[in-house]
Amino acid sequence: MRKISNLNFNKKNILITGGAGFIGSNLAFYFQKNYPDANIVIFDCFRSGDTFDNGNLKSFGHYKNLIGFTGDIICGNINNPDEIRLLNDYKFDYIFHQAAISDTRVYNQEIVMQTNVNSFYSFLEMARKDNSVLIYASSAATYGSSPSPQRIGFEDPENPYGYSKYSMDQIAKNFSDQNPDLLVIGLRFFNVYGPGEFYKMKTSSMIIQLGHQILSSKNPRLFEGSSKILRDFVFIEDVIQANIKACQSQRSGVFNVGYGKARSFNDIANILLEELHSNLEIEYFPNPYSGYQMDTCADISLSKKYIDYEPKFSLEDGIKSYLTYIHKTFKAAVD
Ligand SMILES: NC(=O)c1ccc[n+]([C@@H]2O[C@H](COP(=O)([O-])OP(=O)(O)OC[C@H]3O[C@@H](n4cnc5c(N)ncnc54)[C@H](O)[C@@H]3O)[C@@H](O)[C@H]2O)c1
Repeated sequence: MRKISNLNFNKKNILITGGAGFIGSNLAFYFQKNYPDANIVIFDCFRSGDTFDNGNLKSFGHYKNLIGFTGDIICGNINNPDEIRLLNDYKFDYIFHQAAISDTRVYNQEIVMQTNVNSFYSFLEMARKDNSVLIYASSAATYGSSPSPQRIGFEDPENPYGYSKYSMDQIAKNFSDQNPDLLVIGLRFFNVYGPGEFYKMKTSSMIIQLGHQILSSKNPRLFEGSSKILRDFVFIEDVIQANIKACQSQRSGVFNVGYGKARSFNDIANILLEELHSNLEIEYFPNPYSGYQMDTCADISLSKKYIDYEPKFSLEDGIKSYLTYIHKTFKAAVD
């Protein structure tokens, strides 16, 4: 991905928490490619075999996301203050805080709040100490089922994950009120898809999951009524654009990062069937989830106004750019 900002990140110290994950590793490679003299530091606990009650891994970081990365890597847990202290050897100009329990279906409120919220204070404190710009990952899950298009100020989280991100946004606001000279930006990502997400396994986007189903000659499986289940799918390159442009924001705050249009799960399946030249038919099964978001769409007017965010990838364009990776990871080992 080419340079998208006039800011010069060369010689800057850049911390990326969660850098072994999907979005964090894409950010790391964006800086490495475009600013070879940037000092990039990744802090991530990677993955162990440990799982939550839902059977999913406790963290999805994977070394394979970082093959070719030449910066510093610290394997550490954001729940462990001693490990966070390892970062005190640096003075960061920019902090991109992506590390979190990213699995929206972890319902243990204590562990979600501890991991996503308690650790946030450490990175705010680091930003204050180092006078850094802090960009952190919030989420569309803060909106729950609030009416579409979702706008800042109309949140109604419906799971512990969404609430944890909502809490981070409140904490960031209080912090910004007390530290008006620091730039602190929360980016509410909608449904992000693209290269780097394979290692999120069952929590990866439906785009790669349906793509792999089709490549294995299985009918793409969708919930009944999927033509009316709408999401704002946003391609990873647009998400990177938002992170970079946020560094030049005119003000601190929270901004939506979607494509700005809602598309159905049927749309994904149909685009993939066409792109993968498949005659398979969509197969439907009952939706087992209650409290399922039916319609998400980001109102991106404030993001356009304050951070000059201009998403470039329609669902069609994003999927076309994604096909090589979908093929490459088909049948790849996750270990
Ligand atoms: N991908 C999306 O669609 C999406 C949507 C909304 C918000 N987000 C947010 O964006 C951020 C990045 O998401 P992602 O899709 O790249 O997910 P991801 O799971 O691939 O990345 C998260 C990274 O954080 C690391 N991590 C988790 N717990 C940790 C801990 N206790 N200590 C240290 N590292 C830890 C993981 O190992 C992983 O590398 C997350 O904060 C997520 O909540 C993502």
